[in-house]
Amino acid sequence: MALWGGRFSTGPDQAFKQFNDSLPFDYQLVEQDIVGSIAWAGALKQVEVLSNEEYERIVNGLNALLGDALQSPQDIAQSGYEDIHSYVEAKLIDKVGDLGKKLHTGRSRNDQVATDFRLWSRQTAQQVVEAITQLKDEFIALAERELGTILPGYTHLQRAQPVLFSHWCLAYVEMLNRDLSRLQDAIERLNECPLGCGALAGTAYPVDREKLAHELGFSRATRNSLDAVSDRDFVVELLSCASISMMHLSRLAEDMIFYNSGESGFIELSDNVTSGSSLMPQKKNPDALELIRGKTGRVFGAFSAMMMTLKALPLAYNKDMQEDKEGLFDALPTWIASLHMAQACIKGLKVNGEATLAAAKGGHANATELADYLVAKNIPFREGHHIVGQLVQHAISQGKNLEELTLEEFQGVCPQIDHDVYPRLEIAACIAARQALGGTSLPQVTEAIKSAKSFSSP
Ligand code: ARG
Repeated sequence: MALWGGRFSTGPDQAFKQFNDSLPFDYQLVEQDIVGSIAWAGALKQVEVLSNEEYERIVNGLNALLGDALQSPQDIAQSGYEDIHSYVEAKLIDKVGDLGKKLHTGRSRNDQVATDFRLWSRQTAQQVVEAITQLKDEFIALAERELGTILPGYTHLQRAQPVLFSHWCLAYVEMLNRDLSRLQDAIERLNECPLGCGALAGTAYPVDREKLAHELGFSRATRNSLDAVSDRDFVVELLSCASISMMHLSRLAEDMIFYNSGESGFIELSDNVTSGSSLMPQKKNPDALELIRGKTGRVFGAFSAMMMTLKALPLAYNKDMQEDKEGLFDALPTWIASLHMAQACIKGLKVNGEATLAAAKGGHANATELADYLVAKNIPFREGHHIVGQLVQHAISQGKNLEELTLEEFQGVCPQIDHDVYPRLEIAACIAARQALGGTSLPQVTEAIKSAKSFSSP
């Protein structure tokens, strides 16, 4: 049943077999393994190892196998073969007889697995691209819907300065844009074909590797056979892209869990992404967001595990590298599912504009505005900062907001303050003042929405 029995007098013991076999997880590469094998059969025909007729029979066999395999890929996992490559070869032999034994000519599982895994990675990464784009679009739609809603902006979880709610949405669009561009870079780099590198030294058959690469949709063939079978940078890069993006999603989750809390009441998540408590009937918990935050740890774990596995591995292939798969098989679907969940949360979101406005008006979030007002009265900013600090202290002692202080109270601390201070302290004025590029004024945010839309999906 194994691909390599000749040199051995006894078979593997059960415990070793279980430890060694990768079929329980690499069955997921069945499609890629067959597609890669079809392309390899083409290369063998080109170098006349296979006649046209043999090639046809092998390709038909592989296509039939693909049809069977896609019916119930889970069953493959239980079939007892060592790995997906052994499974496909054995099944092909079942279908086409001894001819199937020719397919592995000039090929190794080392270049084969590197090729399969790149094909899977490219395909799955494309699904991530779509999921990121959809989440971006959802944020842009929310930004448009809530244009004009005012939110307290925070630093240190202290109310700092008011911002437009849409500005908050677009902050996440920026992160998602970076996630997308990082991922697209990674896809471009991984899109090279190792097939035809053999075990490590290159194949002994004069196959046209560039043609082979193009047939599999790669942009080119890898350049060094030793590197090609040893390289798992693409796994590390994808896990790094996934980790950075999950870090963004977990910050989003945290923001939203806080905004959704009874304490702030800024947003309400829709029923379809929340769950109840078995004991407390009043509860509506933000589980989707908590799970996004929680799953981030898993993805970071996969990234560091891969780095650890590859560290100090000698060239070329070592069995350690079989550990490359489970982490990525888990991390990319987790990333996609988290993006979809985040999208569902944003889609059904209700924003309580009155609560956000009331909170934005509290916490003396217009203090910076007052300092800028003093700058306009020719008071140097550092001095103005100190004066405003005193006024805030006074306001706190009186239980007032800054704009509720009387002119006498203002002038008691700073005689230069006049009636014209009041309009400057209005929340709309605080927002409107942020006219410079990237600020939260309405024209800036409107422009940012426009450019986000032109960047996003058509
Ligand atoms: N199952 C193996 C893996 O995933 C395939 C490559 C095996 N190569 C070898 N020389 N034993 O890495």
